[in-house]
Amino acid sequence: MNDMRVLLIGSGGREHALAWKLASSPALKELWCAPGNAGIARHARLLDIAAEDLDGLVAWATAHRPDLVIVGPERPLIRGLADRLTAAGVAVYGPQAAAARLEGSKAFTNELLARHGLGQKEFAVFTDPVSAKAYIRRKGAPIVVKADGDAFGKGVKVASTVAEAEEFVDRCMVDKIFGPAGETVVIEECLFGQECTIKVFTDGETVLPMVPSQDYKRVGDGDTGPNTGGMGCYSPVPVLDEQTFAYVVTRIIQPTVRALADEGIRYVGTLYAGVILTPKGPRVLEYNCRFGDPETQVVLPRLESDLLEILQAAVGGRLQEVRPQWSDRRCVCVVMASGGYPEEYEKGKIITGIGDAEELEDVVVFHAGTAQRDGQLVTSGGRVLGVTALGNSFATARSRAYEAVSRISFEKCYYRRDIALRAVEAESNDERVT
Ligand code: GLY
Repeated sequence: MNDMRVLLIGSGGREHALAWKLASSPALKELWCAPGNAGIARHARLLDIAAEDLDGLVAWATAHRPDLVIVGPERPLIRGLADRLTAAGVAVYGPQAAAARLEGSKAFTNELLARHGLGQKEFAVFTDPVSAKAYIRRKGAPIVVKADGDAFGKGVKVASTVAEAEEFVDRCMVDKIFGPAGETVVIEECLFGQECTIKVFTDGETVLPMVPSQDYKRVGDGDTGPNTGGMGCYSPVPVLDEQTFAYVVTRIIQPTVRALADEGIRYVGTLYAGVILTPKGPRVLEYNCRFGDPETQVVLPRLESDLLEILQAAVGGRLQEVRPQWSDRRCVCVVMASGGYPEEYEKGKIITGIGDAEELEDVVVFHAGTAQRDGQLVTSGGRVLGVTALGNSFATARSRAYEAVSRISFEKCYYRRDIALRAVEAESNDERVT
């Protein structure tokens, strides 16, 4: 279908990358984004409707009848936005609530995988803290405790001692710091290895993998400090060989989609598998029901095909007709954040230098927490920009990204200095071998 009128939902770097890619589609006629950010405003008309205002979004879509709605963040999906849009007769890329439970409930996912013989790790589900703690004492540490539901990215504790694990159980189930999301906890064995992300497009039957990526969750260099939404990312992943990649797609992700289908749940959208490469083979640590952030910022620049055509095919159940083409180039994204993130930080700092940064070859600056105030670009969130560069090697992509970062400034700006360093090292070790 041509002359597509599309509504994109969300306001982060992921949504800017989506808007940037969609804007290059010959099939696109009009793009709106709710609520968007200052960077997305270059490609879309912004709507003053929050991504979590389901009533507002459904009312707008019902009145304006876009040809497709693309949902960026997980929360509206978990809360049933796709169901409501579908009921209103509006096509949507993003899973319905029953399928979004793959991210919305850790217990659901573990139990689904176990029912279908796809379980990859030992786990147990508890609704009372006494039994949960008894289980922890029996199993010993290290051990992983997860709040079952959506806990704003803070619901996972990798506990190195039994006491730490028990304390987290109490915080979830007794103190109820995550509300209902922590009333059930899932306790899992602790797996060790390098982590990477494999995302797929799926129409509920066909699964088309995107290129893999590896992100940096901790705030500090050398993977220190608290977890964040992601401080940087790169693609491809040198440590993930083709055989392992194919194994994860065909033996884990594809059967997961089929398992859902067997239970009457059609998953349409992006399925994100957080994979850990253990000495015993790859294991899926978690599923997310959406594109990753900042993973999308390094994956979409490598997509040579028309994103809108792929998403339309997924929604129409025609993904088997599509063959996305990916570039072999390397892509690196460095997140520039507000000082203090992921804890307290200030907003409203004037941002300069993005134009200079984007004059560099193969550099694109994706906005996350930015806004226009009195004609000036200012910070409005923890993660502010995703400075992204392509190159024929990781060394080139990385140096372009950091050169671009050096041209941008805002007060109390913070970024990691070691993004993609291990990919550059892997690349140079590889060169020495060949
Ligand atoms: N970067 C991690 C995520 O999107 O969940």
